[in-house]
Amino acid sequence: MRNETLVLGFESSCDETGVALVESSAGAVPRLLSHALHSQIAMHQAYGGVVPELASRDHIRRVLPLTDAVLADAGLPLDRVDVIGYTRGPGLAGALLVGAGVACSMGAALGVPVLGIHHLEGHLLSPFLSADPPEFPFIALLVSGGHTQLMRVDGVGRYQLLGETIDDAAGEAFDKSAKLMGLGYPGGPALSKLAEQGDPAAFALPRPLMRSGNLDFSFAGLKTAVLTQARKLEDQLEARKADLAASTEAAIVEVLLKKSLTAVEQSGLDRLVVAGGVGANRQLRTQLDAACARRGIRVHYPELHLCTDNGAMIAMAAAMRLASGISVPSHRYAFDVRPRWTLGED
Ligand code: KG4
Ligand code: ZN
Repeated sequence: MRNETLVLGFESSCDETGVALVESSAGAVPRLLSHALHSQIAMHQAYGGVVPELASRDHIRRVLPLTDAVLADAGLPLDRVDVIGYTRGPGLAGALLVGAGVACSMGAALGVPVLGIHHLEGHLLSPFLSADPPEFPFIALLVSGGHTQLMRVDGVGRYQLLGETIDDAAGEAFDKSAKLMGLGYPGGPALSKLAEQGDPAAFALPRPLMRSGNLDFSFAGLKTAVLTQARKLEDQLEARKADLAASTEAAIVEVLLKKSLTAVEQSGLDRLVVAGGVGANRQLRTQLDAACARRGIRVHYPELHLCTDNGAMIAMAAAMRLASGISVPSHRYAFDVRPRWTLGED
């Protein structure tokens, strides 16, 4: 009888196919053995955004070869897998169905149980994959392409929402601003790179809900302000693009920073975890590191390559749910997916 549990995880909620193998042993943080990822960015770039039908078809093409690669890399056969985790939602329905279908049919074939995972819980627990994992409790800033939330996290499955965006997500603000500057998709990394050559104080852009007195966010107005500024610049836009990018990034980062620090202060905790694609943003990390150091707050991030969607975070979340006893994996292989799903809701 082995003491370790091997968890195979699948992520297919949007435009990355991710597969990973995590090993869980009693009393220790689960360990990533191997992971593989295929990003569809190049395929969707021609369309300026994710095309759901193309995404689903590509997940079908990639998922089994990636699984073979993960097992080969770990040097383990498929029949050593004890549990299979997969992203059940939220995300694109057709894309989710691919991962769920593969996970559940593989589970049925191997006779091992399966567990559907909330994509945001994957992001939330992804810093546990780093060399410097956090300890509970902590405040989490979850900033992805579809979500911007502040949460108090007291343990696996013990999440209290403190504030969230009332319109666009931070990643959306990056992506939409980048799009109207002609920077392509996904815009966040491109905008951030261009911003390095610009002046963040060049344009006075709004800091929405900065002084709202609560922990909610709003980014839709910022995008409109960027559009107005871009139109005003007319033929000077090209020459001033780096300045506009830097000013946009500064506005987003300042709001995220202020609200995160307020959430930590109000909670009386001294630990902050940042997760989700926007957590890869260099300015956000640099400014948070400095501000947290001044206040004696420990700040944790996922490793850079695990900020955006991946299979490791899903295998990890499944392993942590199982280890904490909060979830029991199922031998029922009939599956559904939850394209819209609030974290914490059954
Ligand atoms: O977490 P994620 O991979 O997917 C969702 O679950 O949504 O996040 C993707 C988002 C996109 O909006 C992308 O532009 C943004 O994360 N992003 C960044 C950076 N890297 C990714 N935004 C700003 N700076 C970055 N370096
Ligand atoms: Zn994500």
